[in-house]
Amino acid sequence: MSTQLAGQTALVTGGTAGIGLACARLLAGAGAAVLITGRDRARGEAAAAALGAGVRFVRADIADLDSVAELVAQSSRVDILVNNAASFPGALTLEQDVASFESTFDTNVRGTYFLVAGLVPGMLARGHGSIINVTSMVASKGVAGASVYSASKAAVESLTRTWAAEFGPGGVRVNAVAPGPTNTEGVVAEWGDVNDELGRALPLGRTAEPAEIAEAVLFLASSASSFVTGATLHADGGGIAA
Ligand SMILES: NC(=O)c1ccc[n+]([C@@H]2O[C@H](COP(=O)([O-])OP(=O)(O)OC[C@H]3O[C@@H](n4cnc5c(N)ncnc54)[C@H](OP(=O)(O)O)[C@@H]3O)[C@@H](O)[C@H]2O)c1
Repeated sequence: MSTQLAGQTALVTGGTAGIGLACARLLAGAGAAVLITGRDRARGEAAAAALGAGVRFVRADIADLDSVAELVAQSSRVDILVNNAASFPGALTLEQDVASFESTFDTNVRGTYFLVAGLVPGMLARGHGSIINVTSMVASKGVAGASVYSASKAAVESLTRTWAAEFGPGGVRVNAVAPGPTNTEGVVAEWGDVNDELGRALPLGRTAEPAEIAEAVLFLASSASSFVTGATLHADGGGIAA
């Protein structure tokens, strides 16, 4: 185990499955104490137990502002925040319903926004912090059926730049990782074969494994990226380059 992040506490939203779980594993492996969140308590507690002693589960629904406020209240010190929890339902624009539009933005944008607003004062008071927003390749690319999700992730990439400007003078870096199609249970359940098709169309010709995205998150969390802020790191197999 490396000690690169020893003495630091990381909070990974949606850290109980998929990319978030892989991030929690790498951050804990680098010596950080890690809090993981999700809505499903049983899954969360099992994930924390499997990751080991340095990892704790806190139940939170990022779509619910009261739950976000409670999460802030329970998180006494967070040095690294990975905003990973998201909702990604697909629908063609002409078939989009209002409820799913709202819940996507409530989770991906509003919840992320107010979690950051709640945790950044502590980071600024300590003079350091690293926030990593997990966005998506489709924030920069038109994919039919992904309009609301893509727009929500583009909003978060915009917030990444604003937050870098607002919090940089206080020592807090804010970056995004924009994954391409990644092989997770959640995305397979929601998008089925479409994810594999998107993977085959990339220059690298395949979907990513969650650990490959987590490596990019670890880089932005650590001092290896000490002069990087306001950036979006495209971990997408060349998806937006081609
Ligand atoms: N997989 C891909 O192809 C892909 C590509 C680009 C970007 N991304 C982004 O990567 C991130 C992770 O995706 P994934 O594929 O790893 O998803 P996943 O396997 O479905 O895992 C999602 C995680 O987020 C939690 N979660 C979902 N909604 C939540 C909410 N409202 N409040 C709190 N926690 C919530 C889930 O736990 P509970 O269900 O228990 O709440 C779970 O821990 C997302 O931001 C996604 O947009 C994924």
